[in-house]
Amino acid sequence: MKKIPLGGLSAESFLLEYWQKKPLLIRQAFPDLNAPIAADELAGLACEEGVESRLIIHDQNASTWDIQHGPFDDETFSSLPESHWTLLVQAVDHWVPQAADFIRQFDFIPNWRIDDLMISYANDGGGVGPHYDNYDVFLIQAEGQRRWEVGGIFDQDSPRQPDVPVMLLEQWQSGEPSWILEPGDMLYLPPQVGHNGVAIGDGCMTYSVGFRAPSFAELLTGFSDTISDQLSSEERYADPDLVLQNNPGEITPQALDKIKSIIQQCYEKPELIDSWFGKLVTESKYSNDHAPTGLQCSIDDLIKHKAEGGIVVRSEGSRFAFIKDSELTRLFVDGEVFECGVETSLLAEALCARAEFDLNNLQNVFAGFELISLLIEQGSLYPDFSK
Ligand code: SIN
Ligand code: CO
Repeated sequence: MKKIPLGGLSAESFLLEYWQKKPLLIRQAFPDLNAPIAADELAGLACEEGVESRLIIHDQNASTWDIQHGPFDDETFSSLPESHWTLLVQAVDHWVPQAADFIRQFDFIPNWRIDDLMISYANDGGGVGPHYDNYDVFLIQAEGQRRWEVGGIFDQDSPRQPDVPVMLLEQWQSGEPSWILEPGDMLYLPPQVGHNGVAIGDGCMTYSVGFRAPSFAELLTGFSDTISDQLSSEERYADPDLVLQNNPGEITPQALDKIKSIIQQCYEKPELIDSWFGKLVTESKYSNDHAPTGLQCSIDDLIKHKAEGGIVVRSEGSRFAFIKDSELTRLFVDGEVFECGVETSLLAEALCARAEFDLNNLQNVFAGFELISLLIEQGSLYPDFSK
């Protein structure tokens, strides 16, 4: 059975009792944690163009907080204060294959709900301050120690400290229940739970496995755009049944009924919702992630690769998902849809289930090769020659 990092707890019990419900501390969830990235490599990543990173510096004496956004340079790191700063690098799993392997241990949650692996490095006293997130998070202590204070539930109306460039909850008691996390320990927090992590000593490295949950507003605007694109300018309000009104100023119940039924008809498109949503949630986190690679991949190339090992791997940062109905499987990869009939539906599911696929397991070689070469050409898969 596949090992999951929940101590002795089963995924089923975790989902039932804790997921989106209450915090959970698991001591030694990762007893043999092999850090996918060292502190200096993390700093190096934060110096690269296209990598999202932040430095948060807290001046305790002046009671000020400063936030800087990367990319940084060596000069930034050499001029940092002795303590009370933290570097946070987003989506490390997009850039570092071992980090992508690490985050896969959380695939007891559907892939489309997973956002990224953020890694923070802090010196003594460093942290981002008391705040809440709108998403679930697993906080894993990789190196050093961090004290986590965990408070109540907060929302957008909760008072925040004014005049600071980061979100800091105003009503935060530093006596909130707290735990000191050692390397290998993990804390799960549901959305909106207030938390404050403070590094104890230097060299505190924390991983955050973050999740995504589209807001109702995002769903409505996104889907409305898709519907609007499909409507012609001639599809409009019409009232050939108009009768003379007593007061021309009235918007009549008949007119309002028409408006409601137009809106209802436009939204009642379950098929369209499926394909729009599949594309939406597999879009790359960063738009420049999947610029065409220019990697040509012919069927002959794949035949050769199959004979030489045959492993193809999902690109770090690529998102794969599928929707299955009675007739076909739709495979969504990095915002593109591939309709898969019987010849390729098992392949589509296998590509979504695991990061690696062995071409020697293909059932329908011809149709499979076609799909795989398209995915390689769009930069979502790559042939691994090392295996
Ligand atoms: C951190 O790693 O310092 C911040 C993580 C979080 O609070 O979400
Ligand atoms: Co947080």
